[in-house]
Parts: sequence; C-alpha cells; structure tokens
Amino acid sequence: MNILILNGSPRKRGNTDLLLEKIEEGVHRAGQRAEHVNLAHLSIHPCTGCGHCETEGVCIFKDDMTLLYQKIEAANRIVIGSPIYFYGVTAQTKAFIDRCQALWCRKYLLGEIKPERDYRRGYMVSVAATDGGKIFDGARLTVRYAFDAMEFTYSGELLAQGVDVKGAVAERTEIMEKAVQMGLEIGRKA
Ligand SMILES: Cc1cc2nc3c(=O)[nH]c(=O)nc-3n(C[C@H](O)[C@H](O)[C@H](O)COP(=O)(O)O)c2cc1C
Repeated sequence: MNILILNGSPRKRGNTDLLLEKIEEGVHRAGQRAEHVNLAHLSIHPCTGCGHCETEGVCIFKDDMTLLYQKIEAANRIVIGSPIYFYGVTAQTKAFIDRCQALWCRKYLLGEIKPERDYRRGYMVSVAATDGGKIFDGARLTVRYAFDAMEFTYSGELLAQGVDVKGAVAERTEIMEKAVQMGLEIGRKA
C-alpha cells in the first residue's frame, strides 16, 4: 500500500494538520505507513495555461511538482487536506491541483488512460470556520475533479465546520475519532 497525505494548509499545527495526523495514526494502526507532504513547504509554480501539456503530456515547469507527479503515480491512496479559504481550497492546494492539468491532458486529450486503476482511492479532508450548508461545495468539486485527472476514485471525505482558532479541532473528539477511523479504513483497503 502506498499512501500519500497532502496537507494544503499553511498553518503549522492547524486544524487540517491535526486531522491529517489522526488519519495517519489510523493508517499506522492498520499496519501501514503513509507519506505526509506539506504543500506549503514546496515550490509549485502556478499553471500558466501555456498548453505544452496538451501535446506533450508533461509540464514545462521543473519544480517540486516534478517529484509529486512521481508520488501520485506510485500511490494507490491519496488524502488531500485543505481548510476552506473563501469557499474554496487554499492557494497552495490549488497550485498543486492546477498543475494536475498535465495528468488531465494525458488522460483526456492524449488517451493515456491506464486500465484497471479503480483500486486507486482518493479522500478529502477539510475544515471551515462557519456553519454554512454549502461551505464545502466548491472545494469538494475541485478535489473531486483533481482526483479524476489523477485517476483516483473519490472515496470519502472528512469535514469539520465551526473550527477557526488554530488547533480548535482537537477539542472536537468525535471528529478526531472519525479521522482515526478514516485512517483505519484507508489502511485496510487493499
Ligand atoms: C484567507 C482565509 C480565508 C478563509 N475563508 C473562509 C471561508 O470562506 N469560510 C469559512 O468558513 N472559513 C474561512 N476561513 C477560516 C479557515 O477555514 C479556518 O480558520 C480553518 O480552521 C483553518 O484551518 P487550518 O488551521 O488547517 O489552517 C478562512 C481563513 C483564511 C485565513
């Protein structure tokens, strides 16, 4: 099992970070290991829409995303975690997702679909300060279509509303426990 956890929150020890840590705990309890990558620590140039990947299937920019493409290719479980920023994912998460356009082009323009990849599963974790009923809709759509480009099936989500202060989610014991359960599920699914 190759499990990749991507943290799109720039806030160290923030709510996303704490939930992802609990997911990792569940993964470990299931007897697996996960690689935790903090997108805010990486240098990922925003997509410029140059069109190179439409014909070549690869991005012109050679930065930390180059290694992430390899990690995506090698993974069979990916967790994308991002807090809600203005009803969407953070800029760090979006820069990563936009660079997945190269994968979208390979799949939909260049026909490089690899068969039998339905074992690859993607999960989303998100937190938001407010209680609005549509607060996660934008981020969910973005992450869902990113997983489609990566050839991962959107398989679950862990969403926490009403958490704003750094680390506040730690007091929401039911959500913290759900994170451990999600990690167990991710780790157990072969
Ligand atoms: C730039 C920015 C934009 C935000 N936009 C929203 C928003 O639209 N809706 C919301 O409910 N919370 C919003 N928040 C609050 C964060 O989602 C919230 O503080 C979250 O717990 C941060 O997660 P973290 O600790 O993992 O970084 C915003 C916070 C920042 C810094």
